[in-house]
Amino acid sequence: MKKIIILGSTGSIGENTLDVIRNHRDSFIIVGLSCHTRVAELLAQTEEFKPRAIAITGPGTELEFTGFPGKIYKGEAGLLDMIVDLDADIVVNGISGAKGLLPSFRAIESGKDCALANKETIVMAGPLFLRQASHLKRCIVPVDSEHSGLFQLLQQLDKKRVAGIIITASGGAFRCMPKEKLHTVTVEDALKHPTWNMGKKITIDSATLGNKGLEVIEAHYLFSMPLSKIKVVIHPQSLVHSLARTIDGCLFAQVSEPDMRMPIHYALFYPDATPSEYGTLDLAGKEFSFYPVDEEKYGMLSLAYRAAGAGEAYPVVYNAANEIAVEAFISGQIPFTGIPYIVERALEKEWEKIVGSIVGSIEDILAFDKAARRVTHEILLKIGRNK
Ligand SMILES: NC(=O)c1ccc[n+]([C@@H]2O[C@H](COP(=O)([O-])OP(=O)(O)OC[C@H]3O[C@@H](n4cnc5c(N)ncnc54)[C@H](OP(=O)(O)O)[C@@H]3O)[C@@H](O)[C@H]2O)c1
Repeated sequence: MKKIIILGSTGSIGENTLDVIRNHRDSFIIVGLSCHTRVAELLAQTEEFKPRAIAITGPGTELEFTGFPGKIYKGEAGLLDMIVDLDADIVVNGISGAKGLLPSFRAIESGKDCALANKETIVMAGPLFLRQASHLKRCIVPVDSEHSGLFQLLQQLDKKRVAGIIITASGGAFRCMPKEKLHTVTVEDALKHPTWNMGKKITIDSATLGNKGLEVIEAHYLFSMPLSKIKVVIHPQSLVHSLARTIDGCLFAQVSEPDMRMPIHYALFYPDATPSEYGTLDLAGKEFSFYPVDEEKYGMLSLAYRAAGAGEAYPVVYNAANEIAVEAFISGQIPFTGIPYIVERALEKEWEKIVGSIVGSIEDILAFDKAARRVTHEILLKIGRNK
């Protein structure tokens, strides 16, 4: 039995992970769960899965959690303590955003492997995190469907044979909308993802292609792949998740239903392969279409390439500025088209002069993140004043 901690168990990744485990009670036991605000949902999960401990990081920390016999950790520091204290094999990190960074580090430092959905860990701290994981002999299996696909494809291929990788994007909610109309779209419009059912932030990121930008940076670090060898193509059906191109002209694809339980199942059982309930895609009658990305319409994608090419600090800025811009869009402060505008303004700053150019430690990364959030708020204020 593998012992599992699920961080962000009330979210989309968390719920999908619980579903996989529900189907494999004889292989996994849940020892820890965490949530931020959805305490009632967490309580229901504890009744079903009986973990030894839970962590609540959000405002519900004052709520008395009667009826749960295990240990309750509170606040961000409590979450980190829970990760360290519990005896577990795998930490599934399904926390959204930069708040997932420290929990990922704490997981590997305390001897756990990581099934990593929180892409921000790799975007913000990929080189440091992967170096540390390798030093500590910890296994990192990506849960993002594209990277799970690439992780599997690249294991099959001789590294010398690989010419490049391709990540697919559904195109999000506005794939068929001309770019001239994008400034009028609402939050409700942006949350209508055509193929995936995910959390709010990643769904908005799918509509701007900021999610694909984060994934390009994630792939760049995870697979040590030069940016020039990472391409993105629009594939509205979300059946082909990623491809590897070989120097002798073959394309190998990872193809499956758009169901996050597939990559989660893979990561939980890794390195073993076990029959899954989610793996029966019938090709008959399926259509597969692919289109180039309109880079003017989806400015967030080229900004991601620019950020990743500028040095390790810039992906931290890209991520922080995007998180704040998406929040500002959700709260009605800026239009949808304001998201890439703000991220571009934030990336234009001379970050070496603001914080320095060294990204050698987690403290350096957190300093960049903090400064990037401050600068992005200033940009937002300036926009507000000029309205
Ligand atoms: N959803 C997908 O299909 C998918 C696919 C690939 C990658 N990912 C990645 O997986 C991560 C999670 O995405 P999601 O769609 O599952 O998000 P989500 O549905 O919004 O869930 C986020 C989870 O994180 C918790 N959380 C939020 N803020 C937190 C904080 N400050 N500290 C600790 N926990 C916090 C939430 O708790 P409460 O709900 O209790 O507030 C919730 O349990 C993201 O990095 C995303 O990019 C997701």
